[in-house]
Amino acid sequence: VGADFFHGGDIYTNKGVTLDFSVNTNPFGMPECVREALIARADEFARYPDPNNRALCEAIAKYEGVPVEFILCGNGAADLIYRLCYAVMPLAALVLAPTFSEYERALSCGITRYFLKPENQFAVLDDILDYITSDVEIIFLCHPNNPTGRLFPREILKDVVYFAARRGITVVVDECFIDFTGGASAKDFLNDAQNLVILKAFTKMYACAGLRLGYIITPDVKLTDTLTKEAQPWSVSVPASIAGIAALSCADWVTKTRELIISERSYLSGELKKLGFTVFDGDANFILLKSERPLYEPLLEKGILIRPCGNFAGLDSSYYRLAVKTREENIRLVRAMSDG
Ligand SMILES: Cc1ncc(COP(=O)(O)O)c(C=O)c1O
Repeated sequence: VGADFFHGGDIYTNKGVTLDFSVNTNPFGMPECVREALIARADEFARYPDPNNRALCEAIAKYEGVPVEFILCGNGAADLIYRLCYAVMPLAALVLAPTFSEYERALSCGITRYFLKPENQFAVLDDILDYITSDVEIIFLCHPNNPTGRLFPREILKDVVYFAARRGITVVVDECFIDFTGGASAKDFLNDAQNLVILKAFTKMYACAGLRLGYIITPDVKLTDTLTKEAQPWSVSVPASIAGIAALSCADWVTKTRELIISERSYLSGELKKLGFTVFDGDANFILLKSERPLYEPLLEKGILIRPCGNFAGLDSSYYRLAVKTREENIRLVRAMSDG
């Protein structure tokens, strides 16, 4: 990767980290049923995977309640972001700022940024429609947005999706974190918006970042055909596929996780506010805050890794993103932050 590649979860550069608040994976870790399936079926790793991922696509379609033809799997959500950009080959794109940096890294065209403002708690407003100029061919929306943690207001999301559908613009709604929130998916718009692409991954909810498994849901079969042709034939490994199928059968996993996040998010935000930090409203399993004093180095010295946000367009080095974890871990973080 290039020198501009800067992400959460970099425990390879930062040795000695005992608590990683920079990566937003499920605080419960990988579900036991996924671990058991991987161990029980380790012999199958010797085989080639099904290049069409049939069993996996069927399990995802059932889980999402959409036709199986709408599903395409990839080597993590990031793989699909890059393939989408190659497939659409847009001349102009619209992205939020700040947002997940891989959209801009994957695009090689003119980019318009819709800046989210701290004075509006980083909410998307309906003036976003003015930014969809006639040259825009792809729009990346992040719902909830990384690193702000905010869901799109339902009506605005609907307006953008339908406006883009009328103009034949591809709209990618990245819902990699939506299952941690109580928010409604853009899935409801799939029947009326041919160019809508919903992006999801197992990475965060099932804490399996290292396995690499993501998928898109779209009615645009021409697009999925192109995306399939662009990829190497076995982009989803056998262990990733086994893990995905097992994950979707883990009873109550999403509900249990969501309950933890909702209560711990409220606890952690409250404690951080008491310490004097500016904490922004959000819905996700991570929190954006602004601090008058540097936090990254002092916490790293205590073995705690957080995500400095100075490299996000629209933010500066006074912003930090913190994952929401278990009560015990959140208490450790708050104690370390109160030491100054
Ligand atoms: C909003 C968002 N989308 C996609 C991804 C990429 O996920 P994956 O690890 O499955 O490629 C991330 C990872 O941080 C993310 O934050």
